[in-house]
Amino acid sequence: MKITQVHPHFGAEITGLSLNADVPESVITELKDALAEYGVVVIRDQQALSDDEQIEFCRRFGTLQKSITLHRKDTVRRLTRDELTDLSNIDENGLRMDPNDTRRSLQKPGQLWHSDNSFRSPPGLYTFLKAKIVPPEGGDTEFADMRAAYDALDEATRQKVTGLEVRHSLAWSREQAGSPPLSPTEQANIPESVQPLVRVHPKTGRKSLYLSSHGRDVLGMSDADGRALLQELNAFSTQPQFVYRHKWRDGDFVVWDNRSTMHRATPFPEDKYQRDMRRTSIEDNEVAIAAEPVGAA
Ligand code: OGA
Ligand code: MN
Repeated sequence: MKITQVHPHFGAEITGLSLNADVPESVITELKDALAEYGVVVIRDQQALSDDEQIEFCRRFGTLQKSITLHRKDTVRRLTRDELTDLSNIDENGLRMDPNDTRRSLQKPGQLWHSDNSFRSPPGLYTFLKAKIVPPEGGDTEFADMRAAYDALDEATRQKVTGLEVRHSLAWSREQAGSPPLSPTEQANIPESVQPLVRVHPKTGRKSLYLSSHGRDVLGMSDADGRALLQELNAFSTQPQFVYRHKWRDGDFVVWDNRSTMHRATPFPEDKYQRDMRRTSIEDNEVAIAAEPVGAA
């Protein structure tokens, strides 16, 4: 396989690799190393990877997460495996959804910068997103390197953020995106989480800002001060120099490390085109490593 970096800070394209459930362990190790180094890897030409194979491949990296769409009893799931999250605008009959379909509205927080499943405990580790149908225009996904953003902080800000904890909530990002509120079943099954604001990657030792649109407030700060801090850090870390914009090709299989990157979906003409994206994810059940306060023993 050939690995080519796609952005000065992060991101890599991998060609010459054919994925299925039987890839050798050495390839899994190489991919984990690439994810630690690059944060995002774009594996081209995986048209042949079926949903079942994607799930089995993903399992090699850790514990699979079930889709939270299972808790939305008022919507029909097109994809039947519990591990698959459908990020498409296609209904159970294979037809393009009305852009106002509840399922589509529930995907709107994806257009805000986020780290997947940061509102869950354990949160998301790797996300695997397979492009089955790509619209001819729009629908790119943007990624931000949260390690490069951390590295670029001034010393006073680093001191300020280290040791802080943030409360993450799906209800909050839904509200920010203008999505429907949590249903009773979602409320009963998807509690809030608390996450460190600065994390240390267990493999590389690099620190990153752990931000997400799900992040609602900072523990120990007033709501207004916490939100102002999160907004300021979000604006800082999504400046163009930290962002890679991925233009999807059919068969792209993109994998990212949610500890060191954020991402967001961008719009496309929903009234014209289908976009079919299928997601699996792994939970971060290693102990979440928070950075020690600067100067701590
Ligand atoms: C995701 C996600 C963005 C997109 O899969 O978690 O946010 O462009 N996807 O579909
Ligand atoms: Mn996402």
